[in-house]
Amino acid sequence: MSFNKKTIRDINLKGKRVLLRADYNVPVKDGKITDDYRIKQSLPTVQYLLDHGAAVIICSHLGRPDGKPDPQASLKPVSARLQKLLGHGVRFADDCIGPATEAEAKTLKPGDILLLENLRFHAEEEADDANFAKKLASLADVFVQDGFGVVHRAHASTDAVTKYLPSVSGLLLEKEVNTITNVMESPKRPLMAVIGGAKISDKIEILKRFIDIADFVAIGGAMANTFLLAKGLKTGKSLVDKDDIPLAKDIMQLAEAKAKKQQFIFYLPQDGVVASSIDKTAQTRIVDWSAHVIAEVENYPKTPPPKSAIVGNGELILDIGPFSAAFIAGGMQLANTVVWNGTMGVTETPSLRGPVGPYAHGTEQIVEAMLGQFGHRPFTVVGGGDTVGYVESQGEVGLFDHVSTGGGASLELMSGKKLPGVEALQDK
Ligand code: 3PG
Ligand code: MG
Repeated sequence: MSFNKKTIRDINLKGKRVLLRADYNVPVKDGKITDDYRIKQSLPTVQYLLDHGAAVIICSHLGRPDGKPDPQASLKPVSARLQKLLGHGVRFADDCIGPATEAEAKTLKPGDILLLENLRFHAEEEADDANFAKKLASLADVFVQDGFGVVHRAHASTDAVTKYLPSVSGLLLEKEVNTITNVMESPKRPLMAVIGGAKISDKIEILKRFIDIADFVAIGGAMANTFLLAKGLKTGKSLVDKDDIPLAKDIMQLAEAKAKKQQFIFYLPQDGVVASSIDKTAQTRIVDWSAHVIAEVENYPKTPPPKSAIVGNGELILDIGPFSAAFIAGGMQLANTVVWNGTMGVTETPSLRGPVGPYAHGTEQIVEAMLGQFGHRPFTVVGGGDTVGYVESQGEVGLFDHVSTGGGASLELMSGKKLPGVEALQDK
């Protein structure tokens, strides 16, 4: 299914004031933007609008300021970064609605850009409030939705606003929806999904969908610990979610049922890198619990498993181990499409020796496999959120076929859910 919404290519933009919804919800630390991937990905749409004679009024949220102004969540740093990346002046309005902003919007000429302050400084934004949406709409002649990362929310700037202006998609939204829908609906097989991250409950829908459609599903990250615990393995002090054990069991049952009927692999890590703390100086060791499982099945407790097969009570699993990384990387050599969401370990812990942190080797190895370092290069889609932060920090973001700007939005789209901010746009 291809994208069936009107886009900025389908309308006349000349002399129009365009209200552009972007997702400039970027990480900001002490007033500095630490990752500008979302801003960069919005540039083609902004440039297209400028090139076609529009004046552009950009609105976005940043963080969760809870309906009131919060200087920590100001979009001002974004305005400076946007100006720099575009090489084009960007004006800034201290409020997204109100008389001063209305007056400023009226002065805009084709080629001008005005960035509005955080939409979420008004509680009406998240409440999908009609009056607030009307005020936003009054600034412009056309609405363009390009904030892929936020279209899973029905907010005033994604939903209600579309009732007051002709509303079409920007280029980023179109690309995101097309690419993600294509890999989910007609992937070049074999299709492999690698899912990591902390909580099973956050990814339950996407896990089910991939068990349904993929040929190989590999699990890593802290959520793997919960699966391992559900299988009866010792996980020590590892981050686990006991409430999710029933979910883990359901998922494993679904996977087993499918594997009985056809070629399908549901892979949980067979080994891990463990340490007694998350610290970068902590002593690490490899635990190969696949040996534990074998010992348990065959002759435990007559012959207790070796220490190298058990996570100690005081230890945490912080990364997938070398066997697991090699198995997943090997699977990628047979796959033609890989969808990856969630790192395999605690990639944030900085390194003492070289560019890759002590608990990032598993992730780095699968990244290398995806990018063709071992010979074969599958089509690669990276789904949003923290995973993008990681590939950005490694300077790898441009190397994948598609790196989504959406976290929750890409998960929902992959799960097969409708996105309210897309549904609200005009059909082709
Ligand atoms: C995101 O980063 O997930 C999007 O910008 C949406 O933000 P939200 O999760 O606070 O609605
Ligand atoms: Mg979110």
